[in-house]
Amino acid sequence: MDSEAPPKSVTLTLDGTNKSITLPLIQGTMGPPVADIRKLYAGLDIFTFDPGYGGTAACESKITYIDGDAGVLLHRGYPIEQLAMQSTFLEVAHLLLNGELPNAAQKVEFDDGVMRHTMLHEQIRSIYQGFRRDAHPMAVMCGVVGALSAFYHDSLDINNPEHRRISAFRLIAKVPTIAAWAYKYTIGQPFMYPRNDLGYAENFLYMMNAVPAEPYHVNPVLARAMDRIMILHADHEQNASTATVRLSGSTGANPFACIAAGIASLWGPAHGGANEAVLKMLAEIGTVENVKPFLDQVKDKDSHSRLMGFGHRVYKNFDPRAKILQATCHEVLAELGIKNDPMLELAVELEKIALHDEYFIKRKLYPNVDFYSGIILKAMGIPTSMFTALFAVSRTVGWISQWKEMMEDPSQRIGRPRQIYTGATTRDYVGIDARG
Ligand code: SDX
Repeated sequence: MDSEAPPKSVTLTLDGTNKSITLPLIQGTMGPPVADIRKLYAGLDIFTFDPGYGGTAACESKITYIDGDAGVLLHRGYPIEQLAMQSTFLEVAHLLLNGELPNAAQKVEFDDGVMRHTMLHEQIRSIYQGFRRDAHPMAVMCGVVGALSAFYHDSLDINNPEHRRISAFRLIAKVPTIAAWAYKYTIGQPFMYPRNDLGYAENFLYMMNAVPAEPYHVNPVLARAMDRIMILHADHEQNASTATVRLSGSTGANPFACIAAGIASLWGPAHGGANEAVLKMLAEIGTVENVKPFLDQVKDKDSHSRLMGFGHRVYKNFDPRAKILQATCHEVLAELGIKNDPMLELAVELEKIALHDEYFIKRKLYPNVDFYSGIILKAMGIPTSMFTALFAVSRTVGWISQWKEMMEDPSQRIGRPRQIYTGATTRDYVGIDARG
């Protein structure tokens, strides 16, 4: 079949001159080709300008692929819909880190390898004492995860593959304990030690809800739902927090410091903080009657309010994770015997009205991963302040997988973006007596 061969290069010419440069087009296995602009500045003495990196590939990766127009999300080629319904979080962690789903023996070894590192050094308990009781759990996670680098001097050589492996295991294993203890600290309850006889998500729910005074059994349906929620939040290509981890790692910073940087970046309401913001937004709207006035306010630019849980830099169609979370919402509420949850009913109505509103249709604004996750977590008894911390627990797998991929890339170099300068041109110093 005579199909037109895709172009292999793109040529740029400076208007009014005979200066031009031909840049190679690199085609990945999926997605649009990228113009390799590394020689552009040397060739034409110009930079590219792309604030927010909307059209810029900062790295090569084999981990996650997103087609925003089609609403496709693949992890190492596997569709998120299949992983969410058929896999487990630790199996997805193995896939993200190592490139393949584990066989039976590898699965046992990997799960045991992670679950053996769930405890924290006893000195770390006292770090929590330095926080106010009303500290936001994300503030605690930033601090405690960063502090891990003070405890693992035996594995900070980022050029040593074994140090990278053990650091990845320690981070994946310990973030649920760190997050659960951050919650226990705010409510004045004793920390619950992890139990390695439990599953990963089950252990997190145990540490969040159990008390030393009595036995606690995690509802298996909720454990399964939590495991699925963790899968859905595990990785998402070069989002803001992952880009933060990569940029931090490119300087040679240790993995604990890089993950702490990722946690800080995720905290923002435009990113991982949106799940907490969705619940606050739904509470403010209150009733279905207030949906239309609220959306009118969102359309008024001067209000600076946004429909939280809607919109995405990449997805211009449904976020596939939102669809799975909406279905999981109904499952969890049914298991908990919650009928007609007012928050869910309001969210479903809000989504329906927004999806038929020209403002949102024109801007291709659809529900994203954060729109339904908060409703499920609230129904499961997770406090709103812990939603983003849970996102950080899940995303640690993606962050450390992307960090590992970058560290193993022989071509990786320190990230150092340039700028367009629009400030004052060169001028001489003026003594204070001569200033206006
Ligand atoms: C996550 O990148 C990732 O992959 C992130 C993530 C992951 O897994 O890592 O998927 C997780 O962060 C999901 C997103 C969670 N954030 C929110 O739900 C917050 C609400 N959404 C937005 O603030 C916004 O949609 C962003 C930040 C998600 C994306 O912003 P963009 O790509 O910079 O889009 P934009 O601000 O340029 O918006 C384009 C237009 C603008 O209108 P005009 O100026 O063209 O008139 O759409 C409007 C925006 O005002 N718009 C919204 C809106 N989002 C965009 N208007 C109302 N409500 C919104 N939510």
